[in-house]
Amino acid sequence: MAKENIKEDSSLKQIVSLAKRRGFVFGGSEIYGGLSNTFDYGPQGIEILLNLKKLWWQYFVHKRDDVLGLDSSILLHPKVWEASGHVSNFNDPLMDCKSCRSRFRVDKFLEDKKGENFCVGKSLDEMTQIILEENYKCPNCGSEKTFTPARQFNLMFKTSHGASEEDATEIYLRPETAQGIFINFKNVSQISRRKIPFGIAQIGKSFRNEIMARQFIFRTREFEQMEMEFFCEPGTQGKWFSHWVDYCMTWLINVVGLKPDSIRIRDHDPEELSHYSDKTSDIEFKYPFGWGELWGIASRTDFDLTQHEKFSGEDLKYIDQENKKKFLPYVVEPALGLNRLFLAVLADAYEEEKLEDGDIRTVLHLHPKVAPVKIGIFPLMKKDGLAEKAKEIYDSLSEHWYCEYDEGGAIGKRYRRQDEIGTPFCITIDYNTMEDNTVTVRERDTMNQDRIPVTSLKSYFIEKL
Ligand code: GAP
Repeated sequence: MAKENIKEDSSLKQIVSLAKRRGFVFGGSEIYGGLSNTFDYGPQGIEILLNLKKLWWQYFVHKRDDVLGLDSSILLHPKVWEASGHVSNFNDPLMDCKSCRSRFRVDKFLEDKKGENFCVGKSLDEMTQIILEENYKCPNCGSEKTFTPARQFNLMFKTSHGASEEDATEIYLRPETAQGIFINFKNVSQISRRKIPFGIAQIGKSFRNEIMARQFIFRTREFEQMEMEFFCEPGTQGKWFSHWVDYCMTWLINVVGLKPDSIRIRDHDPEELSHYSDKTSDIEFKYPFGWGELWGIASRTDFDLTQHEKFSGEDLKYIDQENKKKFLPYVVEPALGLNRLFLAVLADAYEEEKLEDGDIRTVLHLHPKVAPVKIGIFPLMKKDGLAEKAKEIYDSLSEHWYCEYDEGGAIGKRYRRQDEIGTPFCITIDYNTMEDNTVTVRERDTMNQDRIPVTSLKSYFIEKL
């Protein structure tokens, strides 16, 4: 059927609606009225998350002979966060409105008014002064000049560790997975007997008490990161930095299937750099609300290992036996947020098409490796042995791919449902199947239909998927 693309750029509202309707993402704790900024991933959502993690792990760990995996604890010794600088530096500048008691991020508030990076290098006093001088109103209640001075607010969640309240120690939920890697550098390098350069990768949850948590799953308080710390000889970090930026871009385009026009690289200005970094670039994605960070690639120098040596008293230096050298390695870190990638993948794949018959088709053009369901299997009717035949085909294909069997409703509606969850292929079992053992295979993007013998389905999908 001929089609016309009526909406290539998705709006956030459409994505949120599709995500809920089709079981990708639900609001957290909904039956209790919801818990703001928490999300639960439904049957389709969890498949995409697992697929993305698997693709990342294959490309960043299994495919490389210079990267190893790790799964460290979420709860780490509190000194880790003193050493890393998170206790003193991991802050957002906040202001309260004295009138309505709402709290907001001063830098984001000013940058929305004055433009990107307006607050880079500005002190808390300077930001407070600008807000008062310009007579800005409270974003919540509209009052003027009722603000407290801006102050720093630490983003780490605190909890207590211990059997009873009296002897409990205050600890933090990790705000990044990276530190679990640094404190295991010695363990991994000794047991693996790896020579530098090599990397350690990990996937896991991180927590940040974000005040401006917003834009659906873009910025949340609980999220998952896929991080890799690549340890190299001092002086080689520039070469490795370029290598990892290219490697990440290639993965996003060739493996995940993002459109090259939807991503770009943005280098950080010197004033913008984190306390541990001498160079950082972000891979940004064009989200429905504008360009924003997807992946941060940072040259972290030897900051973290130096600090952990100092705070733990352990010697974390690497010994280069060949050249008789002992040194703290430098680190290049590609740090990606899984949930942001999930949002990018949905937004990039979303399309509304006007079909020849005037109908609107909503379709997710997901890469087959990312798509939650690979093959939809439908009997045209439930009767006359068609359902039994379809189930037979389902049983044999679902040994290899995640398939969905659906026998309810008109065939067109069943196709539309699979289009909305991005299923690349659908098979229909009809009366001809019972005569010549062939089925119709319909391809999601072109909607072209092929007649394929049941005996060739496995090899057909091995080639296509
Ligand atoms: N270890 C370095 C680090 O954590 P980051 O730039 O703060 O660097 C890395 O975080 C990535 O984690 C970001 O590029 C983003 O994709 C994701 N991320 C950070 N904060 C997030 C949040 N509040 N919600 C969702 N994803 C987040």
